[in-house]
Amino acid sequence: MLDHLGTTKRTHHCGALRREDVGQTVTLMGWVNSYRDHGSVLFLHLRDREGITQIVFDQQFNAELLERAQGVRSEYVLSITGKCILRDEKNFNPIMATGEIEIMAEELKVLNDAQTPPFEIDNCRAAEDLRLKYRYLDLRRPEIQANFRLRHRLALAARRVLDEQGFYEIETPILTKSTPEGARDYLVPARTAPGKFFALPQSPQLFKQLLMISGYDKYFQIARCFRDEDLRADRQPEFTQIDIERSFVQPEDIFATIEPLICEFFQIAGIEPPATPFLRMSYHDAMNRYGIDKPDLRFGLEFVDLSEHFAGSSFTVFADVVKKGGAIKAIVVPGAASWSRKQYDEIIEHARIYGAGGLAYIQVLEGESKSALTKFLGADGIAAVISATGANVGDAILMIGGRWDVACTAMGQVRLEVGRREKLIREEENRLLWVVDFPMFEYHDEDKRWYAMHHPFTSPIDEDIEKLDGQDLGGVRAKAYDLVFNGNELGGGSIRIHRADVQARIFEALGLTPEEAREKFGFFLDALSYGTPPHGGIALGLDRIVMIFARAKSLRDVIAFPKVASGSDLMTDSPSGVSPAQLAELKIKTLS
Ligand code: AMO
Repeated sequence: MLDHLGTTKRTHHCGALRREDVGQTVTLMGWVNSYRDHGSVLFLHLRDREGITQIVFDQQFNAELLERAQGVRSEYVLSITGKCILRDEKNFNPIMATGEIEIMAEELKVLNDAQTPPFEIDNCRAAEDLRLKYRYLDLRRPEIQANFRLRHRLALAARRVLDEQGFYEIETPILTKSTPEGARDYLVPARTAPGKFFALPQSPQLFKQLLMISGYDKYFQIARCFRDEDLRADRQPEFTQIDIERSFVQPEDIFATIEPLICEFFQIAGIEPPATPFLRMSYHDAMNRYGIDKPDLRFGLEFVDLSEHFAGSSFTVFADVVKKGGAIKAIVVPGAASWSRKQYDEIIEHARIYGAGGLAYIQVLEGESKSALTKFLGADGIAAVISATGANVGDAILMIGGRWDVACTAMGQVRLEVGRREKLIREEENRLLWVVDFPMFEYHDEDKRWYAMHHPFTSPIDEDIEKLDGQDLGGVRAKAYDLVFNGNELGGGSIRIHRADVQARIFEALGLTPEEAREKFGFFLDALSYGTPPHGGIALGLDRIVMIFARAKSLRDVIAFPKVASGSDLMTDSPSGVSPAQLAELKIKTLS
């Protein structure tokens, strides 16, 4: 028999009561987290968003109530009124915030029953697919609820800090003509214009620039973005950005907006905020020294450049690489001289996956060091490499030669893999930096054309605008920057193009004909011609920020109703079919 809530009022949350509250009569409401029935006494843990409190039903105190309590099961919804009492000291539970007290139940209302859950809410090790199918149960887990409490606080702080800096929060459309951010669009058929489609925004990029043209000066939005791309642990098809744009600014002004915000996030997460200003590192430096545009600075293994060392060397493979303008990149791994053959082979395979032709190594040993290169370089040549890298006995030197970008990228991935395997990452550290001066364009070997590295509205640096007419688009640098936190890209942005003529030249460099540019972005090119202030901005990935501060492993742990790798939602079973009538209304015929 279920009870009505009636006029019963909750007096406290389940995480609230402490020793000071002993003696009070209280009413708690929540879910049965667990229970232990000892026959004459039953202990029940009642859970709500704020915590867990132990409830006691005692035969000596109220036999009838105990009998009723013996009928409740996990996840039943109860209202319990009783007296807050001190536990015997030997029964204190230091793991529970309420662990010094318990409630001697005087009244029990069973507000609802529950089916046996498909997995234990408390201490759940169930497969993730099952948890996502019953996401509403998974979301009851205290660890997950803590992530959403943090998410709420961070989003609120973003609003407060940006408001204090004079930003307006303005919403932009969800049904729109999408802006190119490099992923596929999600399309929405338009009933009123058969055969035509809206796209869901990959980001509010053009709208925020239009708001600058409209004179709003400082804009932000906690914006939903939609990208149909292959998912990874740090990517979801629907995600949220803290999206920001300002007028009359240089990159430093954007950094000065963001750094206090990030420091506030640290405060909220209870971590000592980093020193400001954050480190700045050019893209070239990041690639040249760490082989990646989002370097994790929580460990060393910085590259040693051996290109000069191997120029004209008797190891002709490397000498040829250098002759062709390539690079030889090395890292020195402490203690790796004792690695097994298998360990080296795995690292070599890893380097190959990321484009290296191979990986050479030297095991630095007492007496004669070991390396396949000894037959080319001789013992003296090996000793010279060891001294050039500063390696010590017991270390190993790993080397990759190739085109500069290929050698750097492959060695960058080797560095990360070795860092993980050897547990070199100082997990307790937090290292933030701005990566600046990105190239404007990147060349894709597959379809042999240039793409915008950030997006096509990014401004080239003033001195490089002239290079747009030349062949070497790779040499054009952009006023673009990324915020990197422990090897994760938290955000990216740029100073934008504010002149219609420069924007047209970028479209041209990207292979768009003036007609195509007009068709796709005519409204925007027009807008640029009506008095556009210099402006720039950034978008921070809110989900990624929460994931990092919550120390969660996946974005799925910080998004209430996430998608799985196939892009589907296991709980609602979407995407799903629609009725023929709905398709007819949209004038759509499906092929399958
Ligand atoms: P960008 O594409 O770099 O820039 O995105 C900004 C930040 O958004 C986060 N992010 C994602 N998070 C989860 N899942 C995804 N699929 C995903 N994709 C991106 C990242 C990233 O750093 N309009 C520009 C910003 C600008 O120039 O102002 C933009 O969207 O943390």
